[in-house]
Amino acid sequence: MPTIKEILQTMDYGPAPESTKEATAWLEQHGRRFGLFIDGAWTESATTFATNNPADGSELAQVTQASGDDVDRAVQAARRAQPGWVALGGHGRARVMYALARLLQKHARLFAVLETLDNGKTIRETRDADLPLAARHFYHHAGWAQLQQEEFADYRAVGVVGQIVPWNFPLLMLAWKIAPALAAGNTIVFKPAEYTPLSALLFAQICQQAGVPAGVVNIVTGDGAVGEAIVNHPGIDKLAFTGSTEVGRIIRKATAGTGKKLSLELGGKSPFIVFDDADLDAAVEGLVDSIWFNQGQVCCAGSRLLVQESVYDRFIAKVKLRMQNLRVGSPLDKSNDIGALVDPVQQQRIHGLVESARAEGCEVWQPACDMPQAGSWYLPTLITGASTSAAVAQAEIFGPVLVAMSFRTPHEAVQLANNTVYGLAACVWSESISLALDVAPQIKAGVVWINTANQFDAACGFGGYKESGFGREGGKEGMYEYLTPLSEDARPAAPIVAEKGRVKASDEGSPFAVDRTAKLYIGGKQARPDGAYSRAITGANGAFLADVGEGNRKDIRNAVEAAHKAAGWSKATAHNRAQVLYYMAENLAIRADEFVARIAAQTGSKDAAREVQASIERLFYWAAWCDKYDGAAHQPPMHGITVALNEPVGVIGIICPNENPLLGFISLVAPAIALGNRVVAVPSEAHPLSALDLYQVLDTSDLPGGALNIVTGSADELARTLASHGDVDAVWRHDGSAAGCAEVERLSADSLKRTWVGGGKGRDWFDAKQACGRTVLQHASQVKNVWIPYGV
Ligand code: NAI
Repeated sequence: MPTIKEILQTMDYGPAPESTKEATAWLEQHGRRFGLFIDGAWTESATTFATNNPADGSELAQVTQASGDDVDRAVQAARRAQPGWVALGGHGRARVMYALARLLQKHARLFAVLETLDNGKTIRETRDADLPLAARHFYHHAGWAQLQQEEFADYRAVGVVGQIVPWNFPLLMLAWKIAPALAAGNTIVFKPAEYTPLSALLFAQICQQAGVPAGVVNIVTGDGAVGEAIVNHPGIDKLAFTGSTEVGRIIRKATAGTGKKLSLELGGKSPFIVFDDADLDAAVEGLVDSIWFNQGQVCCAGSRLLVQESVYDRFIAKVKLRMQNLRVGSPLDKSNDIGALVDPVQQQRIHGLVESARAEGCEVWQPACDMPQAGSWYLPTLITGASTSAAVAQAEIFGPVLVAMSFRTPHEAVQLANNTVYGLAACVWSESISLALDVAPQIKAGVVWINTANQFDAACGFGGYKESGFGREGGKEGMYEYLTPLSEDARPAAPIVAEKGRVKASDEGSPFAVDRTAKLYIGGKQARPDGAYSRAITGANGAFLADVGEGNRKDIRNAVEAAHKAAGWSKATAHNRAQVLYYMAENLAIRADEFVARIAAQTGSKDAAREVQASIERLFYWAAWCDKYDGAAHQPPMHGITVALNEPVGVIGIICPNENPLLGFISLVAPAIALGNRVVAVPSEAHPLSALDLYQVLDTSDLPGGALNIVTGSADELARTLASHGDVDAVWRHDGSAAGCAEVERLSADSLKRTWVGGGKGRDWFDAKQACGRTVLQHASQVKNVWIPYGV
């Protein structure tokens, strides 16, 4: 026993173990054996597997490996329960969700200890971060349920949702998934990760107590095969997945063309940027939260440290000193910082990556401290001397391993930060607000924290750019992931094909009867098609109207390149973009008669005049939105604000509908450019001439060259090229081809670009409810949350 004097000399912590009494009692109460939670009741446990305590390797309980039939029964129960859950109304659902939030708080310590036992993360984190945040999610989303009628009047719940989560934040991920889904009126089949199923099973019990109706929340446990059964079940309307990019890609492929709504929250390799004017001591503390929180098993962990050269040595010295003071040990000890890794498999994976870096000549530094003997552990690790392309600098390590590099200028910092396939999060440390706010928007990531790290709140959306996935969780934007616009239901199920042969008037005397070849429009100039082939376009009466270029892969490549060069359009002010769209409307109005005649000649439509008027109005509509689609300032519970910015997606490929060759084209292209995207558009395959007639309108409207490029030809072939192009950020296809839309979704999996497809359903392009509104704005933008705490 040390004397008080000795203790004061060393200032060592005494042991402060958390009791496991209640958690153990709960496990015993269930005989340490769990069935599934389906239709409000527990099933018998047939085939089971063990879930272990990673801190010492001991078995905690046996948990059921669900069968395909179990998943089917869970989906059926959810389907049966859904109308009743919707019928409860927003207020009714809000009350149930409020009860869930209260019960989570009431049993907070039991949840926290159980989570620590099952996952290995420290009690400090489960108690102070995971539990309060999970409860907050249910409170916040109870509010959205209450407000549903007012704020989401034009939407309905998607239906039955399948949700699959990883093991790093078992209960928090459950809350992120289940709360918004319930608020919107969906019912749920939820699968926790196989390493960490226990807190979800305790949550099932809480659902019973809170009065969640039977079948509304179903919990099925098991491994990836159970996940696969959920993904492929035809009764699932929407899937929400958090986990590895590899599995995310598999799910994207599996759901392509099925009509299932999808959100993916995948991996990351987030930069932590320290400028020379940063408060270095504060930055070191931020770094601890960023990379050593949860043993680095965090999708948005700041795993790449980028430090300005002039302070690099000083900063690294401070980091090492701080690492030396991190306490590694029993996660149940309240004064420990670093707990156990979730499973020996992860330990081996991390070990392999670090050792290969060492073999490549990197310096690997670890503090001198003891580690427990049993269980799976890894010391905090700092790697220096890695090249930017080294595996440790590019791959998601998902462990307590930091890779440090230096940079000279802010420009270089941004380049290094963006040198990754991921785009989940970033931290920027500088005492200069102007530098920080200049750098933050240049980073391709869904969340940027300024002078802070790993902040989360239910009001602020979270999610990735690039291969970190798509869709947002939290915030109003997160609610839309669980809602379907009512206008979708109003659309006919049958594909709409171009109507032909309705008008028999001959085109004698028509100004379009002359033989001419319309070129492509690339980089603001007319361009001959690369293949030097043309296709004949005939009118409604079958007579030849004109030749158009047969665009090919090379033309798309040129168009995408031109679109990238027109990056200035994305930086143009909203006011400026609005002006250009208003000019386009004005110039179209001046030439309205020509456009009416052209539409009539192509489609035989009697509605041509109405179509041109509607097109002019639509340009006005999207011009109006340009400077009104504001982001939001969230007020999470901290001293500061979080600014949610709507940003353009980037370069969007758009396959336009066949019907309404002018209105369909403008209805899709105008919102995309209104929000600052650059576009490669493929006009109506059957009636492309109306889009080509726009060249002069575009030239006289100050739209910069390359912001809108037009390539005519085969919709299927051009869509295929766009969907597989690595430098296209999103593809929209609305020409009524179900197979074509499925293909776009499938091909988009490689670079995980966003897609918006019409499937086999046609839209009435005259109907503003179907063609306008927030759904379109959401497709044309992505949300970035910038956190700005005040003071020091
Ligand atoms: P994982 O992506 O395989 O597992 C996540 C969840 O998906 C689990 O519930 C699993 O059962 C389920 N799953 C697995 N295969 C599936 C399939 N084919 N269809 C549907 N569901 C499926 O992640 P894992 O194997 O646990 O970890 C491997 C690596 O993935 C980690 O080392 C880390 O790099 C990364 N990872 C990233 C996460 C993140 O939040 N970014 C979370 C978990 C893992």
